[in-house]
Amino acid sequence: MNEIKIRKPDNWHAHLRQGDLLARVFHHFNIYGRVLCMGNTSPLIETADDAFRYKNDILAQGALFEPVMCIMLTQDTTPKMIFEAAEKGIKFVKFIPVGTSTGAVKGLRLDDFDKLYKIFPTIEETGMYLPLHAELMSSINGREIHLLDREEATINIVSAFHKRFPGLKITIEHASTAKMINFVQSQDSANVRATLTPQHALLTYGDVFDHNDRLINPYNYCLPVAKKEIDRQAVITAMVSGDERFFAGADSAPHWVKFKTGDNPSAGIFFGPAEFPLWAEIFESQGALSKLENFTSRFGAEYYGYQLNSDTIILVQEEWELPIMENGIRYCKGGEKIRWKVAE
Ligand code: NCD
Ligand code: ZN
Ligand code: ZN
Repeated sequence: MNEIKIRKPDNWHAHLRQGDLLARVFHHFNIYGRVLCMGNTSPLIETADDAFRYKNDILAQGALFEPVMCIMLTQDTTPKMIFEAAEKGIKFVKFIPVGTSTGAVKGLRLDDFDKLYKIFPTIEETGMYLPLHAELMSSINGREIHLLDREEATINIVSAFHKRFPGLKITIEHASTAKMINFVQSQDSANVRATLTPQHALLTYGDVFDHNDRLINPYNYCLPVAKKEIDRQAVITAMVSGDERFFAGADSAPHWVKFKTGDNPSAGIFFGPAEFPLWAEIFESQGALSKLENFTSRFGAEYYGYQLNSDTIILVQEEWELPIMENGIRYCKGGEKIRWKVAE
C-alpha cells in the first residue's frame, strides 16, 4: 500500500462556526496542528475577549488542534481594540469587506480609504497580520460588479494599500484568479502572501452556474466564486510551485443544508473528511506530492511565526467514497471517489 508520512499540517483559513454546527464539524479539523478560526460568527468576534471566549468554546468541544484566533475588522474597530488584541496575543485582524461574504454585515468597504487609512497604521505598528477577503462588490458609481470580476477589481486597491503601508502584512485569502496570483508573485515583498484552497484548484464557474448565471450546484458555491479554467490552472501552478508565498488555507465553510438550499443559498464550501485528501490529489496530479508538506505544514507556519508542528500524519492511497451528507451538512464532491485517506 502506498503511504506518505508528512509533518502535521495547519489550516490557515477555516470557519468553525458556533453552537450545534461547531459541535458537528470540529472533529474534521483534528488532523491539523493549528486552525485559524475565522470570526465571522454571529455576533462577530471583534475584541480579544470575544476571541478568547470563542477559543474556549472550541476547546470545550474537545478539539485536538490549536485554535488560532483573530478579531474582525469592522466599522467599529478602534486602534485601542487593535492594540489590546495585540497585547493579549491575538495576531490576526481579519477583513471581510461589507456584503462580500457570509457574516460581512458590519465590514468596511474595501475602498473606504478614509476609514482604512486610520486603522491600518495601528495594525502595521502592532505587527499583526491582515488576512483579506479581496472582493469588491460594486464600483464607485454603485454599479454591481459580476462575481467573476470581484477579485480582480481589488488588485489596484490592494496594491495601493501595500505602497502606502509597506509594513502591513497582507494575506490575500483564497486567491482565485490568475491575475491576483500574478500580483502576489510580482510583489518583491516580505509582506504580501496568499492562501489557496482546494476548491479553487478543483472547480470552475461552470460547476457552479449555468450560462445564464443560474446556480446549478449550491454545494460548489463559495465566495470568491470559482473562476475560469485559466484561473484554476494558475491556482494549481502556484500551489505546487514550492513558492513560499502561497500556503494552505482551505476556507472550510460548512453550512447546514437548509441554508444551502432555496433562492439565496449561503456561500461556502465544505469537503469534510475529504479536505486534506483532496490537497494530496491535486499535488499528485501534478507529480508534485513531495511539495505538499511545505505548502500545508511549513510556509504558513513560518510566515505567521509559529514553530513547525513536530507530529506527523500518514496519508494512505486508498479509494473511498465521500458521503453525500453527514450530520445535516452536505459536502462538496459528496458521492465522489477520493483517492487518499488520512490514517487514524
Ligand atoms: C465563508 C463563510 O461561509 O463563512 N464563505 C465562503 O463562501 N468562502 C466566508 C468567506 O471566507 O468569505
Ligand atoms: Zn472569504
Ligand atoms: Zn472564509
